Amino acid sequence: MERPEPELIRQSWRAVSRSPLEHGTVLFARLFALEPDLLPLFQYNCRQFSSPEDCLSSPEFLDHIRKVMLVIDAAVTNVEDLSSLEEYLASLGRKHRAVGVKLSSFSTVGESLFYMLEKCLGPAFTPATRAAWSQLYGAVVQAMSRGWDGE
Ligand code: HEM
Repeated sequence: MERPEPELIRQSWRAVSRSPLEHGTVLFARLFALEPDLLPLFQYNCRQFSSPEDCLSSPEFLDHIRKVMLVIDAAVTNVEDLSSLEEYLASLGRKHRAVGVKLSSFSTVGESLFYMLEKCLGPAFTPATRAAWSQLYGAVVQAMSRGWDGE
């Protein structure tokens, strides 16, 4: 896989990372619209959410959004040497497999990430920036996919 262009990634992430919770909420609202079956995977204290809105306003879920944005932030910081995150991402993959996430759902997460980037960046989300993100996200999912090895 080609390496993502670091400058395009860093520049575009600067706009997102000014308000990570707001943009992360856009990402997950889109994710639940595209794949509503993911909602029941989020349960805190055995409580099921009755709707995406219910989930998106729970403090525990907002913490998950923060965690997701921190992982992407780490990938952006290490964009020139993603191998340093490989072990961490493989274990993160294992945790997601354990809570019932299917590897295939990470394509929908990717679509939702691109939706959020487009909303945040507008015309600055150029084809070159999109290509750089596609390479970066592809590398992150590839590393996480090791958590499903041997399924
Ligand atoms: C299909 C979409 C996803 C689902 C259904 C999902 C679900 C979950 C659940 C149920 C947990 C445990 C509860 C919690 O910590 O809130 C969790 C933890 C976590 N998730 Fe996700 N997640 C998804 C996507 C992602 C993505 C894309 C990332 C980052 C790239 C991510 C990063 C994390 C982190 C860092 C944790 C905490 C792990 C730990 O405790 O060490 N998640 N996720």
